[in-house]
Amino acid sequence: MLNQVADIISNCTVGAALTGAGISAESGVPTFRGQQGLWKKFRPEQLATMEAFLASPDVVWEWYNWRRELISDVSPNPGHYALKEMEDFFSKFTLITQNVDNLHRVVGSSRVLELHGNIYHNKCVDCGLALAEDLEIDPSAIPVCGKCGGQVRPDVVWFGEMLPGDVMEFAFADAEKAEVFITVGTSALVQPAASLPLVAKRAGATLIEINPERTPLSDIADFSFRAKSGELLPQLVTVLRERQKGAGGK
Ligand code: APR
Repeated sequence: MLNQVADIISNCTVGAALTGAGISAESGVPTFRGQQGLWKKFRPEQLATMEAFLASPDVVWEWYNWRRELISDVSPNPGHYALKEMEDFFSKFTLITQNVDNLHRVVGSSRVLELHGNIYHNKCVDCGLALAEDLEIDPSAIPVCGKCGGQVRPDVVWFGEMLPGDVMEFAFADAEKAEVFITVGTSALVQPAASLPLVAKRAGATLIEINPERTPLSDIADFSFRAKSGELLPQLVTVLRERQKGAGGK
């Protein structure tokens, strides 16, 4: 299967990937729905919604401070680096992520579309103004926006909220143009992100899934690898590099 996928990629120029929490699992970042998933310990409605923030902004900030702490201690894993290297095999490669952990940016992926925002970014809860990233948020004294006085909140997409329109537009446009679409480490349950692989496939892309568990995409993917992304993606890059050498570079 790996060689077949490498053959296909070697003959394509436009690629895209959609990543979910699973690509960061091997970095030690908990997923949302797995056995040790975040949503097993906390209920999303309690923490990742505007209602929760308006009711208890201190509790929501305690949770995000904990997640920021957790994520600031982790490093990208070979799966993140392999997706950065994937750019060498396409003339255009878009990395669409549901993750807010910033790890794709840490490895230097060039075209990253963060559908659900970035956990290190802050914005005003009222006027939406982007605010300083390095703000240490004290849950007992939440800073306020200099422009309108609204409280600072994490600039991530909460349940029930719209995704950033421009990012979505680019994501769907790039999914439609992709000749190869790789979906990695996502349960493919949360819309609209879960539609992107379907949009790509319908537009004629070869759909490749990498996930140790089956998902709703497993039956429609052209290739579905029951594997960890930190293992499979580097193997795929190695095979592609060998082809690239054989073909005298591409
Ligand atoms: N390699 C690849 N996939 C993995 C690995 C791994 N090493 N470990 C776990 N996975 C898979 C799991 O099998 C699961 O299918 O990663 C997936 C993680 O699924 P979720 O926890 O549902 O995370 P995700 O799909 O990113 O959730 C989407 O839901 O709660 C919201 O905003 C949140 O962005 C998140 C969205």
